[in-house]
Amino acid sequence: MRILVTGASGMLGATLVKSLSKKFDVYGTGNSEYKDCPVAYMQFDLSSDSFEELISWSKPKVIIHSAALTNGNYCNDNPLEAYNINAVSIRKLMNATDGDVEIIYISTDAVFPSKLNLAKEKDIVCPENVYGKSKELGEFFLLNSERKFSIIRTTIVGLNENTSKSGFVEWIVNSSIKNETIGLFDDVIFTPISIWDLAMELEFLIENNLVDSKVLHIAGQQCCTKYEFGINLLESLNISTNYVKKATISSFTERAKRCADQSLNVSNYEKLFGRALPTLEKTIQSIKDNYYE
Ligand SMILES: NC(=O)c1ccc[n+]([C@@H]2O[C@H](COP(=O)([O-])OP(=O)(O)OC[C@H]3O[C@@H](n4cnc5c(N)ncnc54)[C@H](OP(=O)(O)O)[C@@H]3O)[C@@H](O)[C@H]2O)c1
Repeated sequence: MRILVTGASGMLGATLVKSLSKKFDVYGTGNSEYKDCPVAYMQFDLSSDSFEELISWSKPKVIIHSAALTNGNYCNDNPLEAYNINAVSIRKLMNATDGDVEIIYISTDAVFPSKLNLAKEKDIVCPENVYGKSKELGEFFLLNSERKFSIIRTTIVGLNENTSKSGFVEWIVNSSIKNETIGLFDDVIFTPISIWDLAMELEFLIENNLVDSKVLHIAGQQCCTKYEFGINLLESLNISTNYVKKATISSFTERAKRCADQSLNVSNYEKLFGRALPTLEKTIQSIKDNYYE
């Protein structure tokens, strides 16, 4: 089966192309060069008017739309670009493909407001920043289409296969190794899942023909604060935690508003498909395994 992964140069996309290519015929696309991409790769800007070239090259049966502008501050400062890349691109993908091409849209906890703890699929979305609003709009396009889709709301952590990129986990690890003090929020909770565990769940859905127009929360089973996550991660890697300090999100007034409660309830997904999503310990273990690899 042919799968097109957008955002293949990004953290999740690069892991998706690597792991899914063991079973499927995978094509990847991203906005920048990615010379070491392990599958056929096309550099393509999703703000383009025509997606013809991308679709006729990859001829997908399934599209995993993982590309997004993920920097909340950048999205707040450039709302039109954020809506275009994160949401309108879904419409362009639908317009450029036949009706039987399935779309898996990687969405986010950020469609929910701060006051909701362990948000369920049926809870009403109410994003608090442009990034969350752009993802809500992407979901809206799919929900109001005839297309078979899966909207996956998630909270991912992991390492970048693409060595020109660096994210949250690399920042915690590399700063601590260099004895640089960092602050991690002790008042923000989330339910992290590793990108490798999420890739396994997407493989399960595709293989079992379960892309059937549902909104699914696929995240970790357990809540923790960003601070607890960082400490657990460093301890598991035997790196000193001396340079990690507690910080509070309320003291970051310059930032785009980000929810203090980013937790997702995953029990619906687990029950529906008989899957056991990872505990915090398992999520940390996945990072540890891949860090040493
Ligand atoms: N990371 C998180 O904490 C988190 C949490 C919840 C949900 N998500 C969602 O998970 C998905 C993957 O996130 P991630 O952390 O892997 O993101 P990422 O590392 O920031 O990667 C984003 C990807 O989108 C591509 N992209 C951005 N603008 C583009 C454009 N104009 N045209 C084509 N491609 C473009 C980037 O291409 P280049 O890098 O080549 O420019 C990159 O491949 C996203 O949809 C995100 O919203 C992420």
